[in-house]
Amino acid sequence: MRPSDFTTRIAGEGAAAWRTHGRARAMEREGQDVIILSIGDPDFETPRPIIEAAYQALNEGHTHYGELVGARKLRQAIASYQGRLSRVAIDPDNVVAVAGAQCGLFASALCTLNPGDEVIVPSPTYVTYEAVVGAPGATLVSVPTDPERGFEVDVSALRAAVTPRTKAIMLNSPNNPSGAMVSREVLEGIGEICKAHDLWLICDQVYSGLVFEGEHICPLSLPDMAERTIVINSVSKSHAMTGWRFGWLIIPEHMRTSFSNLMLCMLYGLPSFIQQAAIIALDQDLEELEEMKRAFAARRDTMATGLEGVESLVCRTPPAGMFCMIDVRKSGLTSYEFAERLLDAEGVSTLPGDAFGPSGAGHLRLSLMVPEARLKEACLRISRFAESLAG
Ligand SMILES: Cc1ncc(COP(=O)(O)O)c(C=O)c1O
Repeated sequence: MRPSDFTTRIAGEGAAAWRTHGRARAMEREGQDVIILSIGDPDFETPRPIIEAAYQALNEGHTHYGELVGARKLRQAIASYQGRLSRVAIDPDNVVAVAGAQCGLFASALCTLNPGDEVIVPSPTYVTYEAVVGAPGATLVSVPTDPERGFEVDVSALRAAVTPRTKAIMLNSPNNPSGAMVSREVLEGIGEICKAHDLWLICDQVYSGLVFEGEHICPLSLPDMAERTIVINSVSKSHAMTGWRFGWLIIPEHMRTSFSNLMLCMLYGLPSFIQQAAIIALDQDLEELEEMKRAFAARRDTMATGLEGVESLVCRTPPAGMFCMIDVRKSGLTSYEFAERLLDAEGVSTLPGDAFGPSGAGHLRLSLMVPEARLKEACLRISRFAESLAG
């Protein structure tokens, strides 16, 4: 008996990149002093009012099937929350509640792509995208960005990558791993490409609640883009709710039936107590959210200061998100070698940027999900290691 071709197609997500992380976890289990900066799960608790709302919903009997694309009240809450982020009015009937942004990415690919299609994606690219695009039999076409220019998306490079097979452009802004955001000007350029070649714009915005500087621009706010745009978002990062598996899509009106058909056979609706708690997460003005955002911004600055002056490292301070990229090319090591040797020498676990495509090569992704004091300690250890190489 053999597994399906489909599962073969979606296999692999740069397994080598996770080797250091796997070893770090094993070292931690053995009681060693390891600082893990290789994963992307906020270290904060989900704000209390959301947890209380889930308890209450369970006690009140919200333990049955939830509505397929989300309860009306939830979709209204999503529409107004996403509307505030996007600065545009959103029709609750164009909202689909999904089990986290990852589920939203997968659903978007299945509802828009056919076998043989190409999807243009700027690099660095979040690790699951290749499999997501591959699921319906499409191919990811990677377009580089320049680390020296803050990983800014190059519109002319995207235009040059368009072929008769191109079906979509997939964006992640703010980006994981780089934190780079697509500017209004760039987004307008991308919009023009999409309109000229009749392409989808699939836009993953899971870090849009964690913008420290600059403005996050949503394609829904650009003229004539709503009919070809799918926005993907979740509360996983902004609300420290990764384990709740709650996210959403904003889809064009003409795609409502396609998505609800998919939801029927794929998810059958989110758990109804999760839907109830999610309404509180989106509707209430929770002070914890601002506190978490401030903490991430402060940690980012701590990292930039902590690594300043180390000859062989460049810390690329991001305007948004939960990660910093550091350029280790001057050390003479590849990012894989640097990550492995740093773990052995100093007990700091990082993720090689090569896992995110060619533009991430020679960089490490460091997550900001440990308390300030541990982050300072991590910077000391990284600096010491980099200087020992130079020595
Ligand atoms: C860019 C990006 N998209 C999607 C996801 C998945 O998010 P969720 O937990 O909402 O499924 C992640 C998680 O790290 C991410 O970084």
